Amino acid sequence: MAQTPPAPLAHPAPHGGAARPSADGVWINWVPAAGLVVQDVPVPAGEPMCAVVQDGRIAWVGPQLQLPLSFQTLHRWDARGAVATPGLVDCHTHLVYGGQRANEFAMRLAGATYEEVARAGGGIVSSVKATRASTEDELFAQAAPRLQALLDEGVCAIEIKSGYGLALEHERKQLRVARRLGEAFGVTVRTTFLGAHALPPEYAGRSQDYTDLVCHEMLPALAAESLVDAVDVFCERIAFTLAETEQVFQAAQRLGIPVKLHAEQLSDMGGAALAARYGALSCDHIEHLSADGIAAMKAAGTVAVLLPGAYYTLRDTHLPPIAQLREAGVPMAVSTDHNPGTSPALSMLLMANMACTLFRLTVPEALAGITTHAARALGLQDTHGLIAAGRPANFVLWPVAEAAELAYWLGHKPACTIVRQGRLVANGLGVAIAREPHGA
Ligand code: NIG
Ligand code: FE
Repeated sequence: MAQTPPAPLAHPAPHGGAARPSADGVWINWVPAAGLVVQDVPVPAGEPMCAVVQDGRIAWVGPQLQLPLSFQTLHRWDARGAVATPGLVDCHTHLVYGGQRANEFAMRLAGATYEEVARAGGGIVSSVKATRASTEDELFAQAAPRLQALLDEGVCAIEIKSGYGLALEHERKQLRVARRLGEAFGVTVRTTFLGAHALPPEYAGRSQDYTDLVCHEMLPALAAESLVDAVDVFCERIAFTLAETEQVFQAAQRLGIPVKLHAEQLSDMGGAALAARYGALSCDHIEHLSADGIAAMKAAGTVAVLLPGAYYTLRDTHLPPIAQLREAGVPMAVSTDHNPGTSPALSMLLMANMACTLFRLTVPEALAGITTHAARALGLQDTHGLIAAGRPANFVLWPVAEAAELAYWLGHKPACTIVRQGRLVANGLGVAIAREPHGA
């Protein structure tokens, strides 16, 4: 198929990035959120912590009193007792799309189900129309404030899926916007190709033909343009069958691209076990996940991504099998699933709250879910999701007395101080450079 060569991705960075001040120096006087900080030496309980940032990376983490001599002369940022977490990771979003779907919200309030709305021509396909009708710049302009809302709350890495284009040029447009957002905002973006999200109207009744197009034309072309970090499928009775899902996974495997899956959201399709066989990074939604699915995910090291925003918006009552996942030791991530249909959510802290309240996660589980395990769900476990030496400096200082407050407040956005990609991008705490030795 003849293609117009895409324009270069270069884009000015009006939203931050390199324009923000460097966060290099010693960050003293903070309290770690349990389990989310890897210190270089043991820390006696209650001892204030410090982290050294050099050239945008964390060089050392440990108790302030044991700061190695070589770092003693660096200037110091005094966090004045704030609680620290790693930068948050939103590991499942459909952030780039045209329009919005408040009308469907009203339809569901009047009694229609998600499936009924989708079968009546609404749902994903209505966002496809609006996305196809939008230019790349329009999609960028619409997604930018949504991304900013997530960043303001400490998100330092985010996944953005395609899946509202459902044709090569429109999927490309979405993925290019995702890459541009990462560059313009100075945030780690992982792109996921979700060409198999819904059957586009022009392929009605020709599901196999569309699956072939996804596998043999769209995915190889987009991968060749370096637009695809992972491949996802919506495996569901209103979307793609298990056999079609496997064909897409095989195409991804041929290209060496990792897979993930929208699995068992509305019914148990056996998708999680299939995804695990392909070494999936994550299975997401999983309200109807079976015991076999859990065992397969455990064996494959696949992360369970919980999406309480979609569960809440759809007024779902079928809970994901949290206790069984916990018992099996499957890591559980928590994400917004931001999308215009089932989860118009723009707060990771609200998702942490809902994961606790609706799904009965403990607070430490929810906080690991929006950081460490979310990073693993994106294959970013070596660079994101923990405050640890050797990683890029991505962390958040919160104006709270204890970490549990991060999951406790409902709809409150605390004024935090954010270091993202080694730069001070927000300073709600007013952290200033402390001149006194040891920040005493
Ligand atoms: O993650 N489940 C499928 N995909 C999205 C919904 C997309 C939409 O309705 O626009 C989800 O919930
Ligand atoms: Fe989703």
